[in-house]
Amino acid sequence: MLSVPRLEDLGSIAGRSVLVRVDFNVPLTAGSGSGADAGPMIADDLRIRAALPTLRWLQRQGATVTACTHLGRPLGAADPSCSVEPVRRRLAELAPGVELLENLRFDPGETDNDPAFVERLVAGHDAYVNDAFGASHRAHASIVGPPRHLPSAAGRLLAREVEVLGGLRNSPRRPFVAVLGGAKVSDKLGVIDALVGMVDALVIGGAMCFTFLKAQGRRVGSSLCEDSMVPRCRELLEGATAIHLPSDLTALGPGGVPGDPDAGGEVRQVGVDVPDGWMGVDIGPGSAAAFGDVIHEAQTVLWNGPMGVFEDPRFGGGTGAVAAAMAETRAFTVVGGGDSAAAARRFGVDRDADHVSTGGGAALELIENGDLPGLAALRG
Ligand code: 3PG
Repeated sequence: MLSVPRLEDLGSIAGRSVLVRVDFNVPLTAGSGSGADAGPMIADDLRIRAALPTLRWLQRQGATVTACTHLGRPLGAADPSCSVEPVRRRLAELAPGVELLENLRFDPGETDNDPAFVERLVAGHDAYVNDAFGASHRAHASIVGPPRHLPSAAGRLLAREVEVLGGLRNSPRRPFVAVLGGAKVSDKLGVIDALVGMVDALVIGGAMCFTFLKAQGRRVGSSLCEDSMVPRCRELLEGATAIHLPSDLTALGPGGVPGDPDAGGEVRQVGVDVPDGWMGVDIGPGSAAAFGDVIHEAQTVLWNGPMGVFEDPRFGGGTGAVAAAMAETRAFTVVGGGDSAAAARRFGVDRDADHVSTGGGAALELIENGDLPGLAALRG
């Protein structure tokens, strides 16, 4: 079992200065109001709230807490659209007294993992805590550098992610089912390869199902499909792990644009073959019911990726059904971060899941590789 040093392993930190790497890379929207509301606003503060147990615990121990994060992908220079100012305001409300440094990626030393940048970052601090699970797959300066200089530990959020996602690799209650969606097989091939050796069944929805359906000889019309991945999908379908694919689809006719109901286009339930000129945009109701049955029969379920373009109300049925099944099942349920966490919140079932990961790429990489650069750095 993967182990990382815990907060308690830091010893007494009363009166000490602790640097905490958090992942406050939150979605921002344009502000609508005036005054403080004029700039970008936080659309979802989950990642800030998720770090509070660590920040408050450190404060209760008497430590002075300085948090640091990246936000967006500025190119190594100050960029006002990526300023942490909105995050700083929210943090001041939730954890008064915690200081937040400016966006780490304003300095090229962060992504370059520059030793001089690490030294500047740790200067004046007595200990380091990594609670940035969502960024721990990046070998960036603030993730892998400080443990070489300071006594270091995983925060509560990071430790819980390691326990849950590491537990899926080691000792899941069976049957263990993974429900995967999202656009591209190629993006998730590494984790699919790891999962086929781990799970009892894979359920595939989202646009990636069309590459699998094509590998079965089905017609996919104008649906998203990665032709180069068809042979690999065929091999996976011929392997020992059961793979459940949709048996019906919700499709959008010629001229329609997924995500833009105003553009029109006919919406129709089709079978598993998509007519020419039509695009499969969600799993159909029969598939949603069948996927729900697989989820109900499982003891452990990992869900990563929406079943359709759920942001468009015409194509949210499949994702909503999976979200509802995740909420109702008695299985141990884990929602991978990114789009699936957003979908779980959208359908109001995030509180029903046993674990909603704060990491997108990091969660997949931990499942795939069993370790992350940020965890290895903490173990020294
Ligand atoms: C995320 O949102 O997945 C993390 O914050 C990592 O961000 P990055 O992909 O820009 O490194």
